[in-house]
Amino acid sequence: MPHLAARMSRAKPSAIMLIAEKAKQLKAAGRDIISFSIGVPNFLPGPHVYEAARKALDKDSGQYGSNRGPEALLDAFIAHLEEGGLRGYQRSNIATGIGAKHMLYNLAEALLDEGDVIVFPVPYWTTYLDLAEILGAEARLLPCPAEQNYKLTPAQLDAALPGAKVFLFNNPSNPTGMVYTEQEIAALADVLVRHPHVWIICDDIYNRMVFDGVGYHNFVNARPELRDRVIQVDSLSKTYGMPGWRVGFIAGPEAVANAVVTLNSNHITSIPEVVNAAALAALSGPQDVPASKNAEFAARRDQVYAALSAIPGVVCPRPQGAFYAFPNISCAFGKSHNGRMISNDVDFCSALLEAKGVACVPGSAFGDPLALRISYTCPAEQLAPGLQRFQEFIAELK
Ligand SMILES: Cc1ncc(COP(=O)(O)O)c(C=O)c1O
Repeated sequence: MPHLAARMSRAKPSAIMLIAEKAKQLKAAGRDIISFSIGVPNFLPGPHVYEAARKALDKDSGQYGSNRGPEALLDAFIAHLEEGGLRGYQRSNIATGIGAKHMLYNLAEALLDEGDVIVFPVPYWTTYLDLAEILGAEARLLPCPAEQNYKLTPAQLDAALPGAKVFLFNNPSNPTGMVYTEQEIAALADVLVRHPHVWIICDDIYNRMVFDGVGYHNFVNARPELRDRVIQVDSLSKTYGMPGWRVGFIAGPEAVANAVVTLNSNHITSIPEVVNAAALAALSGPQDVPASKNAEFAARRDQVYAALSAIPGVVCPRPQGAFYAFPNISCAFGKSHNGRMISNDVDFCSALLEAKGVACVPGSAFGDPLALRISYTCPAEQLAPGLQRFQEFIAELK
């Protein structure tokens, strides 16, 4: 048999999906499973989104669409950026694609040659490392442990950027739920100004999910001279409860947006018309669903944070955005549960799933093997029992 391309030996399926699959299988086999594993919102978009999609279906032309995206959708995204405080983008600065994941892949292809260095903080969203590995780029990882609130410091960034081509930043963070304050963003932006050869990708798809009045802040507003190097990545998946509709955006310098459009023309051609119509309705219609969900997630964060903070030995910096918590559970290593030895995060998550039916993602999937990720988007009635089982599991360790 002919062999696969060499890059496929470096490609791995998403670790998060593997855990979610295992939890699904146990559930199908009749086990009572509470899944804290997958980061999908627990709500659907408003009825106007479905109505727009149905109307589009009725008059569907069956034609290919624009490689960049239809003008009305580009304009709606520009208005969305403005509403979030990012002004001054034109249609020529925007491109659309099949979710943020596809936009990140496009950007990596557009900006990185083999051997180029891409810098990002650890913990990172799993796909970042996979992308770098598939494309043969060198990932320069900056460890940001729980003791520094999982946040990157200006000194770390400054030391890492010489020789780098791309800095990839994610705020609010998946997996930690950390949100950078205005001062922290300004301090990082000052460093970025001093490294003019570096592209800056901001994967800020959780920018509407920020609690405690911290607000969402970005490098472009902090230091406007960074605008010609910053690429904002956004998506409808989390904000509008539309992960399966697969709509993502970028806003950045024209040259980068044009490169993404060229890649689109060869990869996907366009987003389907029906999806475009749904996306337009989500962005330009009533915004009450995202706003009310933000309040609900803030309340859930309180519940999760209180439960984790009450466990002796578990260290969890307080999340302030997205819908994740990332407790350091290394206090459990070297102990056992019902005779089963726990040596690391993977052992912990497997034993927890089997003993208590609670699925979490091991921190090593995000580059931090001392922790695990809890996604708190499960049905409301499962949150308290899931947290209680988590607490019991740790209390039962010997
Ligand atoms: C930080 C981050 N970026 C990108 C994505 C991908 O989003 P999309 O569904 O738009 O592809 C996710 C999804 O979990 C994410 O957490």
